[in-house]
Amino acid sequence: MDKFVIEGGARLEGTVRISGAKNAALPAMAAALLTREAVHLENVPRVRDIITMGKLLAHMQAHVETPVVPPTNVTIQAEEISHAEAPYEMVKTMRASVLTLGPLVGRFGYAKVSLPGGCAIGARPIDLHIKALEKMGAQISTEHGYVEARTERLRGAHIVFEKITVTGTENILMAAALADGMTTLENAAREPEVTDLAELLNKMGAHIEGAGTSTIRIRGVSRLHGATHSIIPDRIEAGTFLAAGAITRGEVLVVNCRPDHLTAVTEKLAEIGVSIRAEGRDGLRVRGPATLKGADLTTEEYPGFATDMQAQYMALATQAEGTSLITETIFENRFMHASEMVRMGANISVEGRQAVVRGPSPLSGANVIASDLRASASLVLAGLVATGETVVDRVYHIDRGYESIEEKLSALGARIKRTR
Ligand code: EPZ
Repeated sequence: MDKFVIEGGARLEGTVRISGAKNAALPAMAAALLTREAVHLENVPRVRDIITMGKLLAHMQAHVETPVVPPTNVTIQAEEISHAEAPYEMVKTMRASVLTLGPLVGRFGYAKVSLPGGCAIGARPIDLHIKALEKMGAQISTEHGYVEARTERLRGAHIVFEKITVTGTENILMAAALADGMTTLENAAREPEVTDLAELLNKMGAHIEGAGTSTIRIRGVSRLHGATHSIIPDRIEAGTFLAAGAITRGEVLVVNCRPDHLTAVTEKLAEIGVSIRAEGRDGLRVRGPATLKGADLTTEEYPGFATDMQAQYMALATQAEGTSLITETIFENRFMHASEMVRMGANISVEGRQAVVRGPSPLSGANVIASDLRASASLVLAGLVATGETVVDRVYHIDRGYESIEEKLSALGARIKRTR
């Protein structure tokens, strides 16, 4: 199992190029199931979850091409598929496999997808996905750990999500694209990844209006065609590198990002004393100050502060003067990184969905274990600023969503290497 060995203390300096967004590329790949024609995706990150999604689509006998050059292109053609199924063995390694449910039911009138089960950060149910598909006329049964959906043809419906769900919104966008009639989706997720998916679907011939707002209207069509689409940059990777520049008191230029997708993050970083300036067409320059001052944080759905940046913010807050009260409103168990940081010397107390961070606490290198994708990123950030050596175990978590993170950090001057 790979590990990262990090020697703390280096100031990060230089330029880092952000990769495509994993959480935009995954629904885009699933959307290729909606047509028999080829869908060409560009700027796809080379990360483990993308490989897993490619294997899942190939398992269904879709044709999946990932050229060596350029390595960030993926072409998928689901002319016919052998079976509309996402098996447990694959779904258990990546819950985003659930994103095949909507397109399979939408195009083939049938899907059998393993229930994703929980993960480290929470129960992660998909009850809202299922209820919405039932409202669109799908007969759904859930047994033996699978959700099975059948329908002659989905019909448009008026759906109000009880909770904002990103992949729930994405599944219904894809299902409704081929449904009979109009679907209105209220309390929809507004994440940029949802908007990016809607742009791809409209390029494929769908009629979707309102993506990026809480109310999305989809007028179903009988058929979709192929398209070419470039995936948006990864706002969470960009935020992670802004935090890396800040925590090491360095100066880093983050390029190929979308500053407009990062407003809540850049505003919060400015509040704790980090200088961030827009530079060029797609860049943000971050300068880490000599002193950071604590500030409270509450995670919220977009355009609020992303839950996927909470762990990275916590690492920063351990180095800030004063107290930062962090409230995690999206997932019920997303503070596992806190206990690992405490082992490095951080002063953090967790009570339910709130964590109180007091600082600044000098961190000392330690052996720590990653529990989920973003927690592992926060432990790397802590290791960058800790004195001595930090060994982060189970970095397969980080490989799921960060492309070549150790190479990118090393190029900025970090002393980090991967060991087997
Ligand atoms: C997406 O997960 C992202 N994953 C997550 O990123 C991200 O943390 C999350 O959205 C929130 O922004 C992908 O896009 C592949 P939700 P998703 O449905 O869609 C509850 C990462 O690090 N809920 O928006 O699974 C749920 O339990 C990952 O890349 C229901 O109760 O999240 C949670 O409390 C981690 N019933 C809340 O809603 C449902 O049917 C938000 O979940 C669906 C969700």
